[in-house]
Amino acid sequence: MKAIRCLDYGAPSALVLEEMDDPSPRAGEVVIETEAAGLGYVDALLVAGRYQVKTPLPFVPGSEVAGKVIALGDGAPEALMEKRVMALSPRGALAGKIALPAAVCVPVPDAMSAEAAAGFIVSYCTALYGFEDCGKLRSGETVLVLGAAGGVGMAAIDIAKAMGATVIAAASTEEKREAAKKAGADFTIDYTKEDWRKELEPLTGRRDVDLVYDPVGGDLSETALRCLAPGGRHLVVGFAAGEIPRVPLNLALLKRCAIVGVDWGGHIRANPAANIPLLKTLTAWASEGKIHPEPAASYPLEEAPAVLQRLLDRESIGKPVIRFRS
Ligand SMILES: NC(=O)c1ccc[n+]([C@@H]2O[C@H](COP(=O)([O-])OP(=O)(O)OC[C@H]3O[C@@H](n4cnc5c(N)ncnc54)[C@H](OP(=O)(O)O)[C@@H]3O)[C@@H](O)[C@H]2O)c1
Repeated sequence: MKAIRCLDYGAPSALVLEEMDDPSPRAGEVVIETEAAGLGYVDALLVAGRYQVKTPLPFVPGSEVAGKVIALGDGAPEALMEKRVMALSPRGALAGKIALPAAVCVPVPDAMSAEAAAGFIVSYCTALYGFEDCGKLRSGETVLVLGAAGGVGMAAIDIAKAMGATVIAAASTEEKREAAKKAGADFTIDYTKEDWRKELEPLTGRRDVDLVYDPVGGDLSETALRCLAPGGRHLVVGFAAGEIPRVPLNLALLKRCAIVGVDWGGHIRANPAANIPLLKTLTAWASEGKIHPEPAASYPLEEAPAVLQRLLDRESIGKPVIRFRS
């Protein structure tokens, strides 16, 4: 099988495309023939060796996969054979085949493409967990999504709209704001402008928002926190800007607002069963057409290094997906 391998941490351009032996399933595992693999900012950081946890070298990058089950290890449920599944893995998705525990495989709804499924689990589960469990989003509330044209941001727009919110999408370029609008945002805002907070009122007739969805961090977080209405919730999702902001806590007191950490990965590691209702809701919404997880674009395996570099360079739009079918 073909696979992309990281032999040393550094620029994605140093990744190599190689022939590797097909994996064999161990007890309880299945082998998935990869149809598509989703990539995110964390995958790019792992390759660069800049993520908080390092993956031992050498490794095949990629943590989200969708494809067909083609082999079963001892004890793996026979019902999974030939089924289309999506799954998360610590590594290994940028390969023609991957062996994973049967327990982590989730059936792909009939109407969902492999490309959509490969980019689905992380960004959509994070968004639903963030808005429902952590943010207690109610229909009719207004949400400000930062980094709105990234993979995590686009899913947040889709979920917030499905939950009945008005969505203001903040992004750095016109092209990104257009993409956020296409993904369903009601309004867009250019948060590279110094006084971007002032743009809220002419858009919505309000000076404040009920929730902030923040996968970016850096200087933007404090300004976004200042945008919250009393009773508002600032959802801390990630730090793509690199810098972890230190905000004055008196803002939480003065605004009577909450700052809530959204660590979906930690949440399901601590309580694996907690993801079952999230996925049930999400796959039902996808089947009903209530959410729209199709990626903006998909790329062949050879382009994976360039896709990862664009994530590091802040040039990526939407959830990038690598396709294995021609
Ligand atoms: N909490 C969780 O459970 C969870 C789950 C998944 C991912 N995450 C986190 O969510 C964040 C976003 O992931 P993603 O896959 O959506 O990434 P992405 O597609 O690259 O989007 C990140 C966005 O952040 C903005 N940004 C600002 N400064 C940046 C910089 N220096 N470099 C790159 N982007 C920058 C960019 O938007 P503009 O150019 O418009 O500013 C970009 O579109 C990551 O930090 C990731 O770790 C958290």
